[in-house]
Amino acid sequence: MEFNNLVVEISKPIGIVTVNRPKVLNALNLETVGELGAAFSWLESTSDVRAIILTGSGEKAFVAGADITEFRGKTAPDMLPFARKGHDVARIMESMGKPIIAAVNGYALGGGCEMAMACDIRFAAETARFGQPEIMLGLIPGMGGTQRLARLVGLGIARELVYGGEQITAQRAFEIGLVNRVFPVEQLMDETRKFALKLASMPSHALKMAKQATNYGYDQSLDNGLMLETQCFAQCWSHPDLEEGVAAFLEKRKADFHTG
Ligand code: COA
Repeated sequence: MEFNNLVVEISKPIGIVTVNRPKVLNALNLETVGELGAAFSWLESTSDVRAIILTGSGEKAFVAGADITEFRGKTAPDMLPFARKGHDVARIMESMGKPIIAAVNGYALGGGCEMAMACDIRFAAETARFGQPEIMLGLIPGMGGTQRLARLVGLGIARELVYGGEQITAQRAFEIGLVNRVFPVEQLMDETRKFALKLASMPSHALKMAKQATNYGYDQSLDNGLMLETQCFAQCWSHPDLEEGVAAFLEKRKADFHTG
């Protein structure tokens, strides 16, 4: 597929999506948000791809937010499609069967922080900075930041970041649970690739069930979440990977999982 604002590479079994607008620190315009949705949908349907990395081009930014140059003179009806598209893309990312890891190589502000939060896992360079600075523009996050941040780090710290608009370091993001692991910048992509390969080696059906149970169950009551877990658990029993995994364990050999 061809993209104007992204570089999408497949290095089997990993797909790498790089937001590529370095002159504006990879800020997201409407076209880029649409392309992200198309890229993730395409990677979901590409059978050779089993794990995905999202990152930003250049050394300075993951994504520095929505493209503020597109804000001037706009009204709510002009901008609501942008927010809705952002929500749609995040839902594509969360609902697809394959895991997505954000490799946060620099500024992840506003929509950048929001896109990173829609990934399953976040790895960051020590130099990365996170934040929801929209308040300083007279705005609030519009691509899920008011909702996903609280779910990841708790309501109190989410309020602090959304109301105060301050940037935080990768280390602080790690301490509050926004980031899973922090690496020196030169190790970030290698370490992210290593982890993506590990996920890609897992039985893909079980991984999909784990993602569904976790992502859809989180917002449910405990009883509904447990019901969902039971359904996903049951689905594993109808897939040949389980028989293979159990046989491999008992026969003391490496499992040869079905990869579809
Ligand atoms: N939208 C559009 N352009 C942006 C941008 C954004 N979100 N973020 C950065 N840019 C542009 C800058 O305007 C600048 O363009 P120029 O070279 O034509 O002047 C270029 O990217 C480099 O950014 P600059 O501000 O010069 O870099 P810096 O190192 O001084 O600061 C940031 C980096 C990220 C702290 C700063 O650019 C910033 O605050 N960006 C906006 C973040 C934001 O509010 N995001 C949420 C938007 S809703």
